Amino acid sequence: MENGNTLVAYFSRSGENYKVGVVEKGSAKILASYASKMLGAPEYEIATVDGYPEDLLECNKLARKELDENARPALKNMLPDMSSIKNIVLVYPNWWGDLPMAVYSFLDKINTDGITIYPVCTHEDNGLGMTERMLSQAYPKASVQKGVAIRGSVVQSSPFQTESTLKKYLEDRELI
Ligand SMILES: Cc1cc2nc3c(=O)[nH]c(=O)nc-3n(C[C@H](O)[C@H](O)[C@H](O)COP(=O)(O)O)c2cc1C
Repeated sequence: MENGNTLVAYFSRSGENYKVGVVEKGSAKILASYASKMLGAPEYEIATVDGYPEDLLECNKLARKELDENARPALKNMLPDMSSIKNIVLVYPNWWGDLPMAVYSFLDKINTDGITIYPVCTHEDNGLGMTERMLSQAYPKASVQKGVAIRGSVVQSSPFQTESTLKKYLEDRELI
């Protein structure tokens, strides 16, 4: 299956995290690869030049500083070709109820006019938090759809449950 007008854009972090210990592949990265396979759509990794520490406390410090400063950390990867993209399946972790600032760095740099955003959020307790509202406020020209939240501990331990939740979400939105 080829899906020419959908992009799966994700931010994820490997290393130590809540409830899962130290992981080689972050939960949003795993979700993004499922979504990309189901949709037949390309993946774009939102990664920063400086990255984030593997140590959870150190990561918290940096992420909190970026949030407090409303920072836009510099991105490492070249931006994707957006010319034919109408839908973005946006996969990210809940960081203090908000999106990691790197996700804003990405969305600020592309033209979101007329783009439909499907939020896929991984978390450990707080679901999507404020992220749908933050996206709608920050990108009023995009159409931000109701999102889906999947616990990182479920993503890491239950591939079947994770894939079926994600598949149902994408089917309900008629993306697959
Ligand atoms: C800096 C930071 C802040 C977080 N804040 C929250 C939070 O407010 N609520 C929540 O449910 N989970 C929170 N988490 C947990 C992550 O959302 C969760 O572990 C997620 O599955 C991580 O995805 P990843 O492995 O793709 O990075 C936080 C994690 C980090 C590192």
